[in-house]
Amino acid sequence: MKTLVKILKRSTAVGAVALAAFSLQPGAAQAQMAPGPSAAPPVVGGTPAAKGEFPWMVRLSMGCGGALYTKSIVLTAAHCVDGSGADTSITATAGVVDLNDSGAIKVKSTQVLQAPGYNGTGKDWALIKLAKPIDLPTLPTATTSAYDKGDFTVAGWGAAREGGGQQRYLLKAQVPFVDDATCKSAYSDLVAGEEICAGLMDTGGVDTCQGDSGGPMFRKDDSGAWIQVGIVSWGEGCARPGKPGVYTEVSHFAGDIKAGADQLGS
Ligand code: ARG
Repeated sequence: MKTLVKILKRSTAVGAVALAAFSLQPGAAQAQMAPGPSAAPPVVGGTPAAKGEFPWMVRLSMGCGGALYTKSIVLTAAHCVDGSGADTSITATAGVVDLNDSGAIKVKSTQVLQAPGYNGTGKDWALIKLAKPIDLPTLPTATTSAYDKGDFTVAGWGAAREGGGQQRYLLKAQVPFVDDATCKSAYSDLVAGEEICAGLMDTGGVDTCQGDSGGPMFRKDDSGAWIQVGIVSWGEGCARPGKPGVYTEVSHFAGDIKAGADQLGS
């Protein structure tokens, strides 16, 4: 799977993680000071989302997340797809928190547009055109850096702990913004102009994780509406102290994403 390629490339310790006993109580991870496996539910350190809470949230069949950019276009990560062009291999599941919900809306892809120039570093965004529109609210993207700060919400069906399995129920968590200088100190290969970091530097314990890739990181705008500021991209392990999550900086690519969507025909 594409996601694994990225993980192996980016996080040295992932392979070593399965060994540890993840038997701490939920919430204990926040108090855990030493680096090491953090235990805690969802996304890592999150809680279950309510049905309809994030109506634009999509699960993609290759094991990634995404958000409805328009009713017929999903915004996800470039590393979740195989390139650009006709592609009917992806199924988007929407309208549910429980992936086994019989009421889930499932729509196939017709085309994929991977960020022009994507080569595995930065530019981690892609658009997936759906065979038919999904009649659910969309998630507007940030077009300026004004919202690249504060506390963000993340959600996904990915692992609830480093090395853990995918989740049946959508999980959500809150992560604070981490400035570029601090994030660069954690990751020398950060592409600061194209990536935005979030997480608990001191304690770890809350983060996105494998399988959350492509999903949105979002917050409220000044009018109280949800706005997407990030796309789950990578990190070293999950929820480790000193190792924040790295997200595609959506505001930086807003123009390119819009042009891509126009190309796909929204
Ligand atoms: N690359 C991962 C995926 O494909 C996402 C990892 C996010 N990691 C993190 N520590 N925030 O699902």
